[in-house]
Order: sequence, then structure tokens, then C-alpha cells
Amino acid sequence: VLDAIGDAVDLVDPARGPVVDLFSGSGVVAAALARTRDVVAVDVQEYARVLASALLAPARLTYAEGDALAARAKALADERTDAIQALIRHERLAAAALVDGDAEPLCEIVEHGSLRACELGQGPDSAFAEVLEEASEALACLPVDSTIMEYYGGVYFGYEQALELDALLTVARTLNDREWRDTAIAAVLGAASECVTSVGSHFAQPIRPRAKDGQPKVRALLTLARRRKRSATEAFADRLRSYARLSGAASVGTAVRQDYRDFLEACDGDVGVVYADPPYTRDHYSRFYHVLETMARGDRPELSTVTVAGRTSLSRGLYRQDRHQSSFSIRSQVPEAFRALLDGVRRIAAPLVLSYSPCVGGTVARPQPRMLTIPELSELALEAFDSVDVVSAGRLSHSRFNAERVNGEIDQEAEVLLICRP
Ligand SMILES: C[S@@+](CC[C@H](N)C(=O)[O-])C[C@H]1O[C@@H](n2cnc3c(N)ncnc32)[C@H](O)[C@@H]1O
Repeated sequence: VLDAIGDAVDLVDPARGPVVDLFSGSGVVAAALARTRDVVAVDVQEYARVLASALLAPARLTYAEGDALAARAKALADERTDAIQALIRHERLAAAALVDGDAEPLCEIVEHGSLRACELGQGPDSAFAEVLEEASEALACLPVDSTIMEYYGGVYFGYEQALELDALLTVARTLNDREWRDTAIAAVLGAASECVTSVGSHFAQPIRPRAKDGQPKVRALLTLARRRKRSATEAFADRLRSYARLSGAASVGTAVRQDYRDFLEACDGDVGVVYADPPYTRDHYSRFYHVLETMARGDRPELSTVTVAGRTSLSRGLYRQDRHQSSFSIRSQVPEAFRALLDGVRRIAAPLVLSYSPCVGGTVARPQPRMLTIPELSELALEAFDSVDVVSAGRLSHSRFNAERVNGEIDQEAEVLLICRP
């Protein structure tokens, strides 16, 4: 839908003034708009700021410079590997045992392999706990940050991959130039997404290595073991090359981490048009990308807990306790969230192009009811704007605005653009 969004933005602001992308996510829309106008990309998540920054103003490292960074990180990771040899060996033996027909050791790593969980008293009930404790002690003696290894190693990544990711982050954070640093951290996030072993390859749920009857899922574990051989350092170097090949923004592109309300309240500059693509399901983005957020922020978060039948334990996904809960994803708060958005944009007297997906996907177990219908949303928009046109993005991109205007309940699957003019 990039063409449709670009067309809608040009339609309401033909003078090509600056555009604000208020919920920039991956930064892909912001980067496309930056080909023809100045862009500010806003998102409440730090990982999104980093991704948008890298797309809008990528550091063009030569292949030699990128490879030198990767080599520095690899050397650091190798030093750390020496300190926790027993744990690395344990994982290698578990992968070998799987091939020989014993899936239990690898199951245990995926289910109970987080060093952090073990430190918090939720380690395995077996000799593996000792291996984890020793590794924790060894890491604590190293004067380096090992958060990814400690929190998510074993569960989301192989231990060696996690060590490499930590080392890559250490090296990326030493870069003084902000563009270089953001691009390098974005490349680490890309490497993490390539290496992760989880349901759906994001970070909402680690793989469940057993069927309901407790039997190991051997085929899934074989795939996991194969994926854990991917070198995070090589994935990082590949990503840096991709960033170096990007054309980057022709205009000025800036990325900021801020809540949309705060941004709109503080905004007193020249804005030609606002583009907004807020969350539209009850699933919070922060749940899918919490590991990337921890990488981008470089902190050591408290982990959230769940209480089932009076027993409290760490969340299986090892989520950040402070992960962002968006009011767009909380049914009772959605109308207020939209009012704040619509009134905030109206206050700065800019037109608004609002994307909303009335998507009704999901599964039987976890249906995805719409938070608002398109007629409900149009009604809200008309409280703040003089004119609101509802257009199906797919149809828009094919017909370049010659399509009939569609007001009312339309194609249930299609992404919709609300074109709001003051
Ligand atoms: C539908 S996604 C945007 C996708 C984006 N258009 C892209 O191309 O990747 C919604 C985004 O809104 C962000 N978000 C949620 N609540 C927010 C808030 N209160 N302020 C700013 N951003 C928020 C989420 O982090 C997420 O990245």
C-alpha cells in the first residue's frame, strides 16, 4: 500500500511540506515518503526509532568497515565463549543427542535454559541447573554486558548466537557517530530476527518443544537446531551491506521515540501532513518485539510474571515488565486514544491520512475482533475534521483516486485510508 499512502499524502498536501509519520514501526512508510518530502518518524518504542533512523539516514559503511566491526565483535564473543565452555558444550551435546534420537536435553534447554530465570529461582529441576549456575557466575566476572545471553540464550537463541548478539551490541554502542550507531544497532536487530527460534519468528512466544502429551516434537527441534547454527555475526555483516546499498532519504529524515500525544502537544513547527497507522488489534506490538526493545535500549529489564492457580512464575515469553501497553489495543480506551490523535492533529491545523485495517483474522482460540468499525472511526474523525473520505487502500493504488468513494462498511480484509481535511 505504499503507493496508495504516498498518493493520499500528496493529494492533501500537494505542496509537499514536511510529513510526520506518528506510528512509524518498521520505518518503511517513513522511508518511502522521505523520497519526496521531509519526514519525522515517531514511535513509542526505541527499536522502532532505531529502525527508522537506519532507513532514513543509513550509515554507508564500506564492506571493509562493516567486516572490521563484525570481526571485532567475533573476537569479543570468542573471549566470552571461553568463560562458559561447559554451557556451550552442553548445547552442542544436546543437538548431537537429538540426532541420535534423544530429544530431552534440547527440550530442557528451550524450556528452562534462561540463565536469568535460573538466577531468579526458576531454573530446571536437574543437573542442568548446575551448568546454568556456573555459567552465570562466570559471566558475572566478565566486565561486559551479557544481557541477551543471560535473559534469552537457550530460549530464543542458541547460546553462541546470544553471545554474538551481545558482542555485536557492545561494539555497536562504542560508535560515537549517531548514524553509525543506529545503523549498526539496526543491523544487530535484523540479525536477531534472522536467528530467533520462536513461534512465528518474532518474540511473542518461544517454541513449545513438546506436544500436549509431553512427547518432544522432534521435527520442530531438528529445525531449531539447524537454525541455531546461523552465525549472528554473519547475519549482521549482511545487514550492514544492505543498509550501505540503500538510497536513503532524498530529504531530511528524523526519527524520534515519543508517545504520539506528547509529540502532538509539543509540536509547533511547520507540518504539511500527518500520516498515522496506529495499532488496530488487541495484541500489543511490545509483546512481539520485546527482545528487540531490550537490545535497542541496552537495559536489564525486570521480567513480568503470571499467576496461575495461586502460583506465580515468570511469563513464558520472558516479557519486560514495563512493556508498552498501547491504548489503541485496549478496547475501553480506543475511542479516547483516537480522539487524542484526531484533536491533536486538528490543533496543528494539518490534514491527516489515517490507515486502519478492519482486519478480522486471528484463530478460533484467539480471535482478532476489530477494535473499531470503519463507520465508528469515520464518525469520530468527523468530530474533529470538516471532511473525511474513506478509501480502500488497495483500490486506491490501482485507480489513483478515480475509484468510487467507499463510505460505510467495506471489504472486511482491506486496509483502509481515512483522508481527513481540516
Ligand atoms: C500498525 S504499527 C505501524 C506500522 C508502520 N506503519 C510500518 O510500516 O511498519 C503501530 C505502531 O504504533 C506504535 N505505537 C503504539 N502506541 C503508540 C503510542 N502511544 N505512541 C506512539 N507510537 C505508538 C507501535 O510501537 C507500532 O510500531
